[in-house]
Amino acid sequence: MSRLLITGANGHLGTRLIREAARQHELVAIVRSGRAREQLVAATNGLPVDIRVVDYTDEASLVGAATGCRTAIHLVGIIKRPRGTAYADAHENPCRALANAAASAGVSSIVYLSLIGSDRSSSNECFSSRGRAEDILRAGTVPATIIRVPMVLGAGDYAAWSLSRKARSAIVLAFRAASLEQPIAAGDVVTAILHAMAGREHRIVELAGPESLSRRELIARAGHVYGRSPWVISLPIGLALFMAGMLERLLANPPVTRDMLGILDHDDNLDSEAGARLLDVELTSLDDMLRSALPGDQLSRSNPDLPG
Ligand SMILES: NC(=O)c1ccc[n+]([C@@H]2O[C@H](COP(=O)([O-])OP(=O)(O)OC[C@H]3O[C@@H](n4cnc5c(N)ncnc54)[C@H](OP(=O)(O)O)[C@@H]3O)[C@@H](O)[C@H]2O)c1
Repeated sequence: MSRLLITGANGHLGTRLIREAARQHELVAIVRSGRAREQLVAATNGLPVDIRVVDYTDEASLVGAATGCRTAIHLVGIIKRPRGTAYADAHENPCRALANAAASAGVSSIVYLSLIGSDRSSSNECFSSRGRAEDILRAGTVPATIIRVPMVLGAGDYAAWSLSRKARSAIVLAFRAASLEQPIAAGDVVTAILHAMAGREHRIVELAGPESLSRRELIARAGHVYGRSPWVISLPIGLALFMAGMLERLLANPPVTRDMLGILDHDDNLDSEAGARLLDVELTSLDDMLRSALPGDQLSRSNPDLPG
């Protein structure tokens, strides 16, 4: 049994990881507020987890939490920047503190979940911030496995909920419906994280689901799960960017921003087998993924192509 540190532990993947790993490992889960702590206590429902509230940039407290841990799994990150904050608050600064703390505490490896498309030279501020955060970890002395993933689909998460709404609609307005998606199952990401802990050198692994398909096709496949055939109307991405820009100007917390659209609009078309082989993950098929992630109240039971 190893002792693991998990930051961003109250997020979708953190909670899922804790449920998966709590019986095989000793877990120290870090969140940044009392609210998140309560949320996590409820979500982990009696599992043996040491939950602590720590500021992700407070190196000394991170050293305390990481001492005795074999691996630090870093799940802190955003795709939408709240007004008045910087991406660096969620990416570069926590990565810097974690890399230093992990080294001081004698941690053997770091696993960081990042985004496909991250690149410090990107014109998208979120991608460039992620790229710089990755570079900070790779400049550290503790070997870091950076796993870049695209859309992750898991039961109860926002992406699955949003896709299910589209799948059940008669008409869907989608921005650039030809944009390529390559969703991966949340359970596969958790497996990848656990396998990545063994990394002994810095590496970046791009991990995506087994099928790359257009947004239009993805909505159709999801519709199929419900026995529906939504009619997808594609709108130009320029229009979406214009609308997002207006929302950013008008609202303190816009539902979508231009950077976020840039991330969602990224064309994902990777060799899925390469990443899966590196981290020894057996990828879940798209139809199985949709079946288990989409809210189930109206799932079609009559579709013979899909697992029951
Ligand atoms: N789920 C996906 O589809 C997907 C796809 C690609 C990459 N990823 C990345 O994988 C990681 C884990 O994903 P997830 O779905 O579990 O994310 P999530 O549910 O959004 O959780 C993100 C975590 O980051 C923390 N956080 C947000 N803003 C912060 C800030 N400014 N400073 C410090 N902490 C902050 C959150 O804390 P609070 O709750 O206190 O705000 C939460 O603990 C994230 O980095 C995410 O961007 C996710």
